[in-house]
Amino acid sequence: MSRPLIVDSVAALRAQIRDWRRDGLSLAMVPTMGALHDGHVSLIGVALEKADRCVVSIFVNPTQFAPSEDLDKYPRQLARDLDRLAETGAQLTFTPGVAEMYPAGFATRISVGGPAAGLESDFRPTFFDGVATVVAKLFLQASPDCAVFGEKDYQQLCVVRQLCRDLDLPVEIIGAPTVRDAHGLAMSSRNAYLSEAELEVARQLNAILRRTAAALAAGADEGSATAEASRALVKAGFDKIDYVAARESLTLAPWRRTRDGRLLAAAWLGKTRLIDNVEVPSA
Ligand code: PAJ
Repeated sequence: MSRPLIVDSVAALRAQIRDWRRDGLSLAMVPTMGALHDGHVSLIGVALEKADRCVVSIFVNPTQFAPSEDLDKYPRQLARDLDRLAETGAQLTFTPGVAEMYPAGFATRISVGGPAAGLESDFRPTFFDGVATVVAKLFLQASPDCAVFGEKDYQQLCVVRQLCRDLDLPVEIIGAPTVRDAHGLAMSSRNAYLSEAELEVARQLNAILRRTAAALAAGADEGSATAEASRALVKAGFDKIDYVAARESLTLAPWRRTRDGRLLAAAWLGKTRLIDNVEVPSA
């Protein structure tokens, strides 16, 4: 497969997309922050099943990092990412710099309610404002027909759906399943921070969530099951548990047994924060 075209300005992005539109081609977008792994690549596969052309954006978005977070440390490996993209069939890569996305004087923030409340927002209160703002900009820059997001970041997927609904952004949001390693660990750019010993611990996260989801589906009390999951995570070697919580899968409202649910968790391993989630089938 050939390497995708690379553009780093909104004007060049729009010029390329205008040509495709003139030829009647449909467009899917896959927004990323780079350090591409099999999870990202799977989204591109889904995108290319849905549309004639796929644009992948690579932009480490500063507005979604709090001052205390890992913006400076976040892995940046554009050359490797471009090699990786050559294997995927994506036709276009958009790699804007910070000044292109947030020129001097930039003063707008988009704040989503509903599914953005709680969970991640309890620990990263400005995170979804940053995500919603950059995703809205990317959609307005590229005007794709659809965009693919991973279930790995389940709350983010719900927030992006809400954003498009509320702002009438004509972009179909497609959720794609989480890609995991052979031991169940969800692929993540942040896994690069983990030592071998930490990786062993990290691999317990999904097993504990699956066990807890099965207990919930079998009728276990929600409070006791999630508290037990937190204890199991600490016992496995996690240092701090931000949350383990069951929510309704569509709205992220409190879970009711009669509705499909999602069990979501965030936990710290040393200086690395991991998130994961699994389905909780309805009764
Ligand atoms: P990033 O963490 O790079 O993730 C880009 C996309 O890849 C997201 O939709 C995410 O859910 C998906 N993804 C990550 N790991 C995955 C896995 N193991 N399996 C399947 N999909 C996976 O999420 C972001 O970037 C940013 O917040 C962004 C949306 C680009 C806005 O800046």
